Amino acid sequence: RPQTTLRRLAEMKAAREPIVMVTAYDYPTARVAEQAEVDMVLVGDSGAQVVLGHDSTVAVTVDEMLVLARAVRRGVSSAFVVCDLPFGSTEVSDEQAVQTAVRFVKEAGADAVKLEGGGPSRLARIRAVVAAGIPVVAHVGLTPQTATALGGMRAQGRTAESAERLVREALAVQEAGASILVIEAVPAEVADAVLPELRIPVIGIGAGRADGQVLVMHDVLGITEGKAPAFVKRYAEVGDAMVDGVAAYAREVRAGAFPAAEHGYPATPEAVEAARA
Ligand code: KIV
Ligand code: NA
Repeated sequence: RPQTTLRRLAEMKAAREPIVMVTAYDYPTARVAEQAEVDMVLVGDSGAQVVLGHDSTVAVTVDEMLVLARAVRRGVSSAFVVCDLPFGSTEVSDEQAVQTAVRFVKEAGADAVKLEGGGPSRLARIRAVVAAGIPVVAHVGLTPQTATALGGMRAQGRTAESAERLVREALAVQEAGASILVIEAVPAEVADAVLPELRIPVIGIGAGRADGQVLVMHDVLGITEGKAPAFVKRYAEVGDAMVDGVAAYAREVRAGAFPAAEHGYPATPEAVEAARA
């Protein structure tokens, strides 16, 4: 497959060809995304919860995200790789945001970085990172890094005030230079209202059809435990298959059925004799 570029993603939007994005957090999930021929892979800070076991995204550090991002990069050849800039790594200043973004490009080979929010300081960060030559994916609507300030992990754009904010921020991040926009957890009618004003590709998650979709891979595969958000559709029950596989192995070890002769190494009679002597 040819390399997916920003130009190609823009062409897909123009041709109304839906853009497929999914998260990955390590080499095997990157290989899965690549072999499934998705267009974009997101090294999401959702990895804080999905693969590191935290109860929110705010705990994950830049160094931890870089470990995940480098592993993903090694597994992806064609898809466009976006890395989330985690909470705390862009809040202090434009300089801090640029320094963090540069690390994801230099140390992990990110094609673009993703920055949450569309308020005034966020717009300054987007402009600074874009000015440094690094493509930015913006993210508005439900922004999990600042969910506490939004009143929890809940849908946005459901009141007139919140819908007005969503539209204002979506237009503002585009003006600030974002190349792609993710809109999370917003009624489809509200997201649809701003779509005609957006020249950049818009990737929805719980925001209607947009130009493309993104989901957390472990939600798609049925590996995550607990209640999923309304926007999740499970396409497989891989978590159950994983537990079944490990449980079968445990049963065979306990029953003395594993290992069998074919799982070992042949010895010469001389080696056996010497070992017994
Ligand atoms: O971290 C993540 O997985 C995300 C997507 C849900 C957009 O930011
Ligand atoms: Na994220």
